[in-house]
Amino acid sequence: MLATIINGHEVSEKILAKIRNETIEIEKKYNKVPGLVTILAGNNPASVSYVNLKIKTANSLGFKEVQVNLKEDVSQQELLSVIEKYNNDDSIHGILIQLPLPKHINEKKIIYAINPDKDVDCFHPLNIGKILLGEDDAKFFPCTPAGIIELIKAAGIKINGADTVIIGRSNIVGKPLVNMLIKKSENATVTILHTGSKDMEYYCKKADIIIVAAGSPGVLKTEWIKKGACIIDVGVNRVGEKISKKTGNPIAILKGDVDFEEVSKVAGYITPVPGGVGPMTIAMLMKNTLYSLKYKLGLL
Ligand code: GUN
Repeated sequence: MLATIINGHEVSEKILAKIRNETIEIEKKYNKVPGLVTILAGNNPASVSYVNLKIKTANSLGFKEVQVNLKEDVSQQELLSVIEKYNNDDSIHGILIQLPLPKHINEKKIIYAINPDKDVDCFHPLNIGKILLGEDDAKFFPCTPAGIIELIKAAGIKINGADTVIIGRSNIVGKPLVNMLIKKSENATVTILHTGSKDMEYYCKKADIIIVAAGSPGVLKTEWIKKGACIIDVGVNRVGEKISKKTGNPIAILKGDVDFEEVSKVAGYITPVPGGVGPMTIAMLMKNTLYSLKYKLGLL
């Protein structure tokens, strides 16, 4: 039997519908809508496509959306002044700076400059620190990790006590996710594997849940997967181009880190790429932006 596909579009649509309704209610009562600024420096095709999706989704929810497109050679100072501007703009509740930034920019300095109350990516050390400490007063949850947990739960998979392997230790996925999964409320047993890990097979073979966020196709071998395990693929690899039937324009062909066809024959559950974790990351960003406004209005 083939694995059940966990459909990220379906799960995220339900979350977005709730956000849309709450946005309407808040606008009626308070005459305010969530405001999101998306800041993009340069024109890396993957970043352009992610940011466009975020803009489209924010607009579809009735948010105020401000788009800032900066040149690849934007100075650090100019980027900092854009952040300062939106830190002080009361109609903006979320500031998103698409990563990676051009090489000459100090990413850390930029992230530290975001007002933590508007840090809807949950990248600022104050916010990510609260995730590490498992604080109940965390305002935001990192989008991709939060989306992954929602997806696993939506598929009805038990996290409590589950042997869980995360492949990849990035600041955006692996590091926050381990902290979120080991919280008492989730209670997973988590192993992080990375390029320095010696015996990946040993850990993967025991795992009930494997989350692959390595940015490298093929890191997880099909023969390492326990029958019925849940496989979450966070990888997005651009492997070519095709012509869109809708627009006639070239679009990227995307593949995950996992061999979907082969792994589906062994796993119990699997997320596709595209259409798995990606839409959930965007839904969580929208949720954080709505929550940011709700905090400001004293509703949370
Ligand atoms: N680049 C890759 N993933 C992300 C993300 O979740 N947020 C931002 N801002 N940049 C990214």
